[in-house]
Amino acid sequence: MITREAMLRVFLTAITIICLRLAGVSGVNIIDGTVAVPHSRPYIAFLIITKERQLEMCGGFLIYPNVILTAAHCKGKAITVILGAHYHSKNEKSQQRIPVQKMITHEAYNDMTLENDIMILKLQFNATITKEVKTIRLPSEDDHFGPGTTCLVAGWGLTSFPGNSSNVLREVDVKIQKRCDSASQICARGTGRKGTCDGDSGGPLVCQGRNNIPTAAGIMSYSNSYNCEDAYRSDVYVKVSAYLKWIKTKIKVSSSA
Ligand SMILES: *[C@@H]1O[C@H](CO)[C@@H](O)[C@H](O)[C@H]1NC(C)=O
Ligand SMILES: *[C@@H]1O[C@H](CO)[C@@H](O)[C@H](O)[C@H]1NC(C)=O
Repeated sequence: MITREAMLRVFLTAITIICLRLAGVSGVNIIDGTVAVPHSRPYIAFLIITKERQLEMCGGFLIYPNVILTAAHCKGKAITVILGAHYHSKNEKSQQRIPVQKMITHEAYNDMTLENDIMILKLQFNATITKEVKTIRLPSEDDHFGPGTTCLVAGWGLTSFPGNSSNVLREVDVKIQKRCDSASQICARGTGRKGTCDGDSGGPLVCQGRNNIPTAAGIMSYSNSYNCEDAYRSDVYVKVSAYLKWIKTKIKVSSSA
């Protein structure tokens, strides 16, 4: 048996914030997905992460006007959040760029096993809620998104492997799988190659909650295969409902600080 740790692969990728003057949009992927209707996922955030030597990108999602939820492995020296983006490197009028004031990773985050891969980003100032920028509902403790539930994941990550990240937001339908459902994680994949890849880390797994309200059931964490086109891989998400108390506590502490 191959150890789980040896195969884990986070979906973080370097970016160059130079507009590739691409005229159109080719292909239809996150991996085998479609281009999202612009601004139809107003809670999604594009994160530009300053690391030692380079910039990297992740996804995230707005849960309060001044709070983003993402993966702990997206931490860097500094992070800038772009909300209201579709074509992230274009100067879209809908975009709001907000620097992160504070990164709060889970105390029990383990960067080898990727357990508790969750991070709160406290923004320097509140986002303005607009048609293109909105918060997403968190699950309640008794929200249960069981195996077979169809959900959606969106991101600006690679559209093939190896390949390039996407200028525009893409999304793909995935189904919750039984095989790695645990107290703190959810697995979800689409048919065939459908799923996530480098750059999609930290993005939300969006399921229909009560009254069909889009709900952030998961945070994109890692895959158990090196190749994101592997049809047998599992894409693993942090189960948000397991961290509600942690989220609440940290937000309270940080807003009184
Ligand atoms: C910013 O948003 C928070 C909720 O996250 C709210 O409590 C606070 O009043 C807002 N601050 C301003 C200045 O609007
Ligand atoms: C990635 O982008 C470069 C530059 O635009 C292009 O030459 C290359 O073919 C792309 N790779 C893939 C796999 O699409």
